[in-house]
Amino acid sequence: MQIIKRASIAGVAGYVPDYVLTNSMLEQMIDTNNEWITTRTGIQERRILKGEEMGTSVMAIEAVKDLLQKTATDPATVDLLICATITPDRITPATANIIAHAVGANRAFSYDLQAACSGFLYGLDTAAQFIASGRAQKVIVVGADKMSSITNYTDRATCILFGDGAGAVLVTAHDAASGYGIVDTICKADGAGQDLLYQKAGGSKLPASHATVDAQAHYIQQDGQNVFKAAVKAMSEVVLDIMANNHLTPADITYLVPHQANQRILQLVAERVAIPMEKVMLNIAKYGNTTAATIPLCLWDYEDKLKKGDKVIVTVFGGGFTWGAMYMVWGYDGVKAV
Ligand code: UT7
Repeated sequence: MQIIKRASIAGVAGYVPDYVLTNSMLEQMIDTNNEWITTRTGIQERRILKGEEMGTSVMAIEAVKDLLQKTATDPATVDLLICATITPDRITPATANIIAHAVGANRAFSYDLQAACSGFLYGLDTAAQFIASGRAQKVIVVGADKMSSITNYTDRATCILFGDGAGAVLVTAHDAASGYGIVDTICKADGAGQDLLYQKAGGSKLPASHATVDAQAHYIQQDGQNVFKAAVKAMSEVVLDIMANNHLTPADITYLVPHQANQRILQLVAERVAIPMEKVMLNIAKYGNTTAATIPLCLWDYEDKLKKGDKVIVTVFGGGFTWGAMYMVWGYDGVKAV
């Protein structure tokens, strides 16, 4: 009898830099105030990676090393490493190659995946497909972004939002009959949103030049209000779709894990899908929006509360636009880190 393989998360780890950028520090830099930031976004502080030539891989390597150690995984047994990021160390080679080399995953093939704030979920879905096909048995998916490298700290509409961080998961193959693991995923994209959240220069359309630097065109910029509305609509709809596809009611869900972009977005999504806020994973207050890292950093923060059999829905929304939802049955009892 053929055993159908299903991917399951077997461990989570994260890394955030030590440097804390608080709302009161931002008050000294731009025309803003703690009350505005807290009530409009829920963010109190974010972490920033400081130091010369410190790229995204610095954080991702720390997260992956910790992951390998806590899951007692020999790096040489990893088949594939995917890094979701919009802030790679360099345009080429892929940051995933740098991470795999640094952690000794010398048998793995590795590549970067770019889907903005949806990158981690897209990466996890990709890992699940490699496992289901039998092509891979162990995959590491790391979501990592050094958002401070593309943030304009004179633009109060964006610099209050973003932070740096990395989170990683080990994905392994299980017998689908066990009931655990990633059950269903919906990934969506619509390029009609391309000019609402983007980094104008630095790609092939508008390569770096003195003029692009002078025009501050290498920073991330967004139409906040329209992104806000699109995020609430897209995430609510896709969560309702995945619940319907899998015959789930709000009462069945143990945790909703939403991309951490703005606490008001999360509250509106939770309200629309009728999942109470006590079941919503939240860490935006301390890390802000870390783009591809928000979901694994949430799972890392809540890992000790997660129990085998918990029904978890992840949902994301980001530049592109890209969005999606994943339903999984958690495969192990989390233990409190010592
Ligand atoms: O991760 C990918 C997805 N990204 C997102 O989901 C972000 C979505 N958007 C948002 O989170 C929100 O739109 C923001 C937090 C970016 C902005 O909040 P908002 O409630 O939409 O504010 P707004 O842009 O409508 O601005 C309201 C007012 C404006 O002043 P006036 O015109 O009413 O006088 C802004 O100039 O707030 C002002 N403002 C600020 N005031 C103090 C904008 N930024 C700030 C600030 N501090 N940092």
